[in-house]
Amino acid sequence: MLYPHLAAGDPEVRNLIMHELQRRRDGIDMIPSENVTSPAVLDALGSILTDKYSEGYPGRRYYGGNEYIDQIEELARARARSLFGVTHANVQPYSGSPANQAVYLALCNPGDTVLGLSLFHGGHLTHGLGVNFSGIYYKHLNYTTTPEGFIDYDGLQQLAEEHRPRMIVCGATAYSRKFDFARLASIAHSVDAFLLADISHIAGLIVGDEHPSPVGHADVITTTTHKTLRGPRGALILCNGNPSTPLKAVEKTRENIPTLIDRAVFPGLQGGPHNHQTAAIAVALKEAATPEFKTYAHQVVVNARTLCAALIEQGHTIVTGGTENHLMLMDVTKHGLSGGEAEVALGKAGITVNKNTIPHDPRKPFDPSGIRIGTPALTSRGMKEPEVRAIAEFMHTALMHHTDDTKLADIRRTVTELSHAFPPYPELNQPI
Ligand SMILES: Cc1ncc(COP(=O)(O)O)c(C=O)c1O
Repeated sequence: MLYPHLAAGDPEVRNLIMHELQRRRDGIDMIPSENVTSPAVLDALGSILTDKYSEGYPGRRYYGGNEYIDQIEELARARARSLFGVTHANVQPYSGSPANQAVYLALCNPGDTVLGLSLFHGGHLTHGLGVNFSGIYYKHLNYTTTPEGFIDYDGLQQLAEEHRPRMIVCGATAYSRKFDFARLASIAHSVDAFLLADISHIAGLIVGDEHPSPVGHADVITTTTHKTLRGPRGALILCNGNPSTPLKAVEKTRENIPTLIDRAVFPGLQGGPHNHQTAAIAVALKEAATPEFKTYAHQVVVNARTLCAALIEQGHTIVTGGTENHLMLMDVTKHGLSGGEAEVALGKAGITVNKNTIPHDPRKPFDPSGIRIGTPALTSRGMKEPEVRAIAEFMHTALMHHTDDTKLADIRRTVTELSHAFPPYPELNQPI
């Protein structure tokens, strides 16, 4: 039996977990920010490390009994440095948003001007949305994409020259093309701004050599660990240089970035690190350094390209006309649907995607024109080009019959059949 202690202690919670497991087994999750972690990562996450307090950094803790926790955090830091090719890594941010918050706290003062890609053109909340801390405490100006959906580098250069920001944030949540980090750095540095590269979505592709790295261009890099990197929820902040010991209050200069970052994470923003999460990050980073992971990252991109080509062939509109990474944005309006209606129809057919704005969307953010589709999770399940072509066909049929619940239920049965041949957690393949 799965989770026997939970069965005894809290059958209600276990029952809901079992339903979620069944949902994943029966359907195909295509949300680009999700993935399927390994049993080793899950073991570390569910370990006794969750009980320990260890405010501070290895060798400098505010609590006793941290001799093994120190070794775990050092291991995670060393693996992060080596995997990304930097000299400093902070592995303590609880998640991607707190990691970005720490960078703002480290490098900017409240009220400073920051430029980030608009959420409605693919950026993240923490890149300057008005209702987010980034838009509340900093003077945020957004750059956008061109009418075709590509980052408007010229527009960014102009904005940067006009407003002389303290920091430029690059990276995205819904962008299907490669970033030109050299160009972004040259724009930032031409106006003496810091460049933050938030590689949350593409970190796994970068370590798998499927996307250029921002190392050597960006002043600081943040990434979640749970998207293409296929680890637990969590985040890394990466940079070059070394922090001063002990960490002292310092000027916000380029040379001081490692110290500023470490101070911003703790004590600036967080208390005790989540040690079970740190251990699971260490495990994921070890996995990401293997040749198998490179093969995985390559297949993620091949699958996205294959899916995109098949959807275009069936007459669908893909923003920018293609993809170079793990995701794509599809404008569904020409078939008489909204993004929300497409999300619901595909959901009924057993395929999970999310509605999303498209660049220059004429519709409202809560009722946008598009959906966002990604291949990281299905690739982790072992699906390749033939399965992806079949999925494109299912998607097409579902969208063309989006009001026909009988047809959608038919598709769902076929999706579940395919899904069962590629279980997301083979190690948990027991009856529920
Ligand atoms: C580019 C980017 N940065 C940051 C985050 C925030 O990560 P989290 O949801 O872990 O706070 C996300 C999450 O979607 C993201 O896509």
